[in-house]
Amino acid sequence: MKITKAVIPAAGLGTRVLPATKNMPKEMYPIVDKPTIQYIVEEAVASGITDILIITNRGKGLMEDHFDKSPELESLLEKSGKTELLETVRKISDLANITFIRQKEMKGLGHAILKAKSFAGNDPFAVLYGDGVIISKTPAIKQLIDHYGEYGKGVVGVKLVDEKDIHKYGSLKVEPMHDNVFKCTDMKEKPQTKEEVLSLYSILDRCVLPPEIFDILENTKPGAGGEIQLTDAMREIAIKDGMTAVEFEGRRYDMGNKFGILQAQIEVGLEHPETSVQLKKYIKELAKKI
Ligand code: UTP
Repeated sequence: MKITKAVIPAAGLGTRVLPATKNMPKEMYPIVDKPTIQYIVEEAVASGITDILIITNRGKGLMEDHFDKSPELESLLEKSGKTELLETVRKISDLANITFIRQKEMKGLGHAILKAKSFAGNDPFAVLYGDGVIISKTPAIKQLIDHYGEYGKGVVGVKLVDEKDIHKYGSLKVEPMHDNVFKCTDMKEKPQTKEEVLSLYSILDRCVLPPEIFDILENTKPGAGGEIQLTDAMREIAIKDGMTAVEFEGRRYDMGNKFGILQAQIEVGLEHPETSVQLKKYIKELAKKI
């Protein structure tokens, strides 16, 4: 099935990286020279997505500006003959049909996704969390889209997480099917006891959902942390119809987390043609001192 719509929830307050996020959306942090949100939009576009809805909130207008035209900057670059940079800037506003909607109260990820109801209509849609950058050979969301409908409705992108960290994530009940693909039949958001842990497979940043999710979300009560949890709504689909879980290939950076931000800068900087040689040398010198 062709999936052409994507929703990027990006309304979270980013309290784990305060004070940086007091006025600056975490989605605008650059990894070397490109903002987080652009990596995510580019991943969606490279996966066949043409229409993107970004869920924002007050104070996140910078994201809208980033995907708009920039006439003054473009004419300056044109006049000064910086054609390569001009192309780079122009491409951003032509990436996809990008629209924005505000989540007026931060009631959780499930509540944010509900804002996409009329955008999605009766179509399945991809979800890419606005603070989760994944660098991979095949775009991460494409790895999921390719399995939509394989073992039930919807696909979740999963990875194994450390036992000591599973309480911060969602835990999935999975049966291996083939290769890196599992059938998921139950899930628990932020398990607090050993009994609640279904496995160490957890949903990380990507899923493809059927439109039925909206009716479920409309009736989903606040769960872990008092928030309307997307996992609680997906659980209903997993129990009733099953979902496909794909252990995606790729390096994931949590840009809503201090260490994730540092990892992203270093690893992407080591690969970037303009910084790689200098950064390698710098890290080697630094390593001798620490
Ligand atoms: P996170 O829990 O990682 O983001 O949500 P957060 O709420 O900004 O985190 P804190 O404040 O540091 O703990 C996962 C994704 O869901 C979005 C976030 O923007 C992120 O992309 N989200 C979360 C919303 O859009 N709305 C919400 O009410 C909550």
